[in-house]
Amino acid sequence: MIITLANGKGGSGKTTLAVLLAHALAESGKAVSVLDLDPQGTATNWLRESGSKVAMYDPARKYEAVFIDTPPRVEALPRALASCSVAVLVCSPSPADLWTTRDTAAAIRPHLPRGARLRLLFNGVQHNTVLARDLPAIAERIGVQALKSTISRRQCYQHAALLGWQALDGDAREEIRRAALEIITA
Ligand SMILES: Nc1ncnc2c1ncn2[C@@H]1O[C@H](COP(=O)(O)OP(=O)(O)OP(=O)(O)O)[C@@H](O)[C@H]1O
Ligand SMILES: [Mg+2]
Repeated sequence: MIITLANGKGGSGKTTLAVLLAHALAESGKAVSVLDLDPQGTATNWLRESGSKVAMYDPARKYEAVFIDTPPRVEALPRALASCSVAVLVCSPSPADLWTTRDTAAAIRPHLPRGARLRLLFNGVQHNTVLARDLPAIAERIGVQALKSTISRRQCYQHAALLGWQALDGDAREEIRRAALEIITA
């Protein structure tokens, strides 16, 4: 199963979540890899430097899940979407980011393979805010189905780039695990 993480806007959390979601599934015993299509190579460096158990994608091998990290440019998306089962738009819950995400969704749709799903994953959510309560309605307004799982704003996600999965506390691991399972099933 191929899961493509995308957004035309930079810094929404694509790389962070590609690596962490992959790690959560690898922890559960699945054969998982990350395909880094961003020329910046952030995911590649992350996996190398943090000693992650997640593999870099090797075309000679078979995986149960491949997470594709993409650069923040819609031109890069057709290749990244070509064989995907799910395209996940990673988006902060701010209105400006949602508008960019709506544009990205429009650019993505013509390239989605038949039967592939398009889902919104809110990242950097601050719970107990008015915005956090209205997320499903906000997603509906831009016409993309949101995953029930959302990812909170947490410092440990920043630390994970250097320290790996062990930087995450129990709540963070559970949040990522739940999102990963929803992405591969819902
Ligand atoms: N949920 C979160 N909580 C706290 N910090 C986060 C969260 N998600 C991402 N970040 C931080 O935000 C910054 C941008 O994240 P990331 O590099 O994953 O975004 P990106 O979409 O891959 O960016 P680009 O488009 O430039 O490739 C990083 O410093 C990362 O640690
Ligand atoms: Mg990135």
